[in-house]
Amino acid sequence: MKADALVLFGATGDLAKKKLFPALYDLEDLNELDVQIFGVASSRWSQEVFKENVVTAIKARKPDVDQAVLDKLTGDMQLIVGDYDDPATFVALAEAIKEFKLPVIYLAIAPEYFAKITTALAEVGITKRARVVVEKPFGRDYESAKQLDAELKKLLPEEQIYRIDHYLGKEAVEDLLVFRFANTLFEPVWNRNYVSSIQITMAESFGIDGRGKFYDGVGATRDVLQNHILQVLTMLTMEPPIDMGSESMQNEKIKVLSAIRDINKNDVVRGQFDGYLDEEGVAANSDTETFVAMKLFIDNWRWAGVPIYLRTGKKLPETVLEVVVEFKQPPRALFGKSESNQVRFRLGAKDGVDISLQAKKPGTKLITETVDLSVEFVAEFGDRQGPYERLLRAAMLGDHFRFTRIDAVLHSWQILEDLLKNPHPVISYDSSSWGPDAAQELVPGGWAPVGTEADKLKNLHQ
Ligand code: BG6
Repeated sequence: MKADALVLFGATGDLAKKKLFPALYDLEDLNELDVQIFGVASSRWSQEVFKENVVTAIKARKPDVDQAVLDKLTGDMQLIVGDYDDPATFVALAEAIKEFKLPVIYLAIAPEYFAKITTALAEVGITKRARVVVEKPFGRDYESAKQLDAELKKLLPEEQIYRIDHYLGKEAVEDLLVFRFANTLFEPVWNRNYVSSIQITMAESFGIDGRGKFYDGVGATRDVLQNHILQVLTMLTMEPPIDMGSESMQNEKIKVLSAIRDINKNDVVRGQFDGYLDEEGVAANSDTETFVAMKLFIDNWRWAGVPIYLRTGKKLPETVLEVVVEFKQPPRALFGKSESNQVRFRLGAKDGVDISLQAKKPGTKLITETVDLSVEFVAEFGDRQGPYERLLRAAMLGDHFRFTRIDAVLHSWQILEDLLKNPHPVISYDSSSWGPDAAQELVPGGWAPVGTEADKLKNLHQ
């Protein structure tokens, strides 16, 4: 059933400003936003100031806005001002949305408020008929996630909870499934018999951008590895689901997550960029990692023995989200030494796929040269939809496909449990480097080039 109202907690916050309002604009532009929007926030803003801020936030992301769409979006938007600790806030909200049959309540706020706000919503009767969308991180380890789930489940069944991981809203990430399961060419070789390693890099050239207070209590493992990177890994390695229904997908994800072998602490490198300790909101002696790299194995029939390398960090040389699947060498080197085949998925900017192959080098000798087959999806299909646009739409339609199920969330915490509880100390690294040297040494022969370095090589091949 379609929702008829959208209530945004944290409506004056960063996420709303950067992602949610621009996404709502896109939905309005497509004429897909037939809900009334309410913001809830503790900032004492007037309705006018709220709307002005919404407009500014959208214009900052979309310089070519259509004024008519903007007017339609903000026209009947309403801000409810109140503290989250004050029951009167929820009474006012209940009154404001009493005519609406199916509100979606989006909690774009710090995770420590999830249970508290849901309880307050239940007290005024809203949860009986609402869907509640919670942002990540869901908990900060296995136990706290379990506890948060138990608290929410007292108030809401699983069907009414939508846990966000915005990577599940990215078209490029979803394309991993299509690439694998719609192309007969690849699926037969997508296993330990042909794949020699998998590398996933989520690198960001920026730092913590004024989010010191939040980030210092979280770190790279909790902020993005437990969720975004493990989702990418799951899409790459899961078995084909029996259909594209939400439950079938989730069932396969659980299977692959539960096959991940306990990670050896010596296969993990935690780093902290130089200067992190001077950031506002960061504890003077903080051991929070802004970089993490690790090697893991999936102990199942398909992937046994294939090393899988993950790395993510802030203040790295560039912002890229890429996966490199490296294939084994042919059984006999008939043409002398040649490079292995690789499939490189670009999941961030300029998303697409590059497949490196060996071709005969021109000339008399029978030797090989690397060539690439490349596709860039935006060039091919035009612009992609943004993840928040897709997730907001799905929440309003009641489609769980792009949200995480609690057992998967718990499994992903479990995989990282020991590392989070007993971490090695962080090693500092220079800004704009690829993290501590120890991270380079994790991968025999080094990490495959990604980003501009890989593009340069590709251009050389062309
Ligand atoms: C968020 C993290 O979930 O994802 C941020 O909290 C990170 O630290 C962001 O920068 C990355 O998202 P994207 O879509 O830009 O890759």
